[in-house]
Amino acid sequence: MENFSLFASVADDLAAVEEKLKAYTCSSLEIMNRASLQLIEAGGKRLRPAFTLLTAKMYKEDLRDVIPLAAALEMIHMATLVHDDVIDNSLTRRGQATVKNIWGNRFSIYLGNHMFARSLSIIAGYNRGDLLEVLADASMKICEGEIIQMFGWYNLNLGMKNYLQRIQRKTAVLLSVSCALGAMLCDISEGQIVLHKKFGYYLGMAYQVIDDILDFVADEKILGKPSGSDIRQGVITLPAIYALRRGENKEELACWLSSPEKCRERVNDIIGAVLDSGGIDYAYGVARAFCERAMRQLDKMPPGAPKEEFMKITEFVINRNF
Ligand code: IPE
Ligand code: IPE
Ligand code: MG
Ligand code: MG
Repeated sequence: MENFSLFASVADDLAAVEEKLKAYTCSSLEIMNRASLQLIEAGGKRLRPAFTLLTAKMYKEDLRDVIPLAAALEMIHMATLVHDDVIDNSLTRRGQATVKNIWGNRFSIYLGNHMFARSLSIIAGYNRGDLLEVLADASMKICEGEIIQMFGWYNLNLGMKNYLQRIQRKTAVLLSVSCALGAMLCDISEGQIVLHKKFGYYLGMAYQVIDDILDFVADEKILGKPSGSDIRQGVITLPAIYALRRGENKEELACWLSSPEKCRERVNDIIGAVLDSGGIDYAYGVARAFCERAMRQLDKMPPGAPKEEFMKITEFVINRNF
């Protein structure tokens, strides 16, 4: 996952974020240092800090005041991943063993909480209630998204509305506020900030739809995390929702997906049925529609390198395989 560089115009600032991440996660407990360093050094796409920096770069040259905020966003993201891997029972992430895998569930919960609390202390340094409020709200939404998902395991009656609700909360909101917060550190109008918020939101929706597609079709080695994991858990995502409605074998599929044993034992059959149904193409169509909406917001933003890079990122979101 190295050499991921769609963010040339903020490359130096992202390097500074990387240094901050290491400094911020440094604790007097050696085990905490090792675990957070492993996660940081495993890479990751750094989309959230990059979005914050690129957004601010549209309006100002000097981003020194944006760097701590960008790092705090990545830390909130990492904290949710550490917890998510406990909930999803995942053993690999970013091509490495997860914190859960090496140090166990209990430690993962504390490490995630510690990272989250640290990010709050960074934000507190800005002395701006509005930033804190936006982040607190996003963090609550992420939990809600994960909870909605957890209570929907093996439930076949949950359709598109429930799906959109959960991906909005668990993923789109944080990408949306990553853009909005970058804008909030610039001297621009409320209306312009809303544009950035919407852009991140639509792109975030597309991002999670593609993540859910990749869970069916990706090569695990390239993805850096397990594929087929949603099915094994009974998490019914968009391609499966489509297959349950339209697929030729929808009765059989419903029988498999409603049973925890079948979800574990017949992963390949379930994936096959979803692929045969055309659910993947359908989900790509939905993701593309979200990206087009994001592009319409982008059209209204100031021209320059950051805008062009956001265009490339929007393409990457659809075409990515990791
Ligand atoms: C993974 O996020 C969780 C989702 C929201 C799909 P990323 O795909 O941004 O993961 P990293 O940070 O690059 O590892
Ligand atoms: C998790 O969604 C999104 C979070 C905000 C944690 P997933 O469970 O699909 O993420 P991955 O696939 O494990 O990265
Ligand atoms: Mg997961
Ligand atoms: Mg996933």
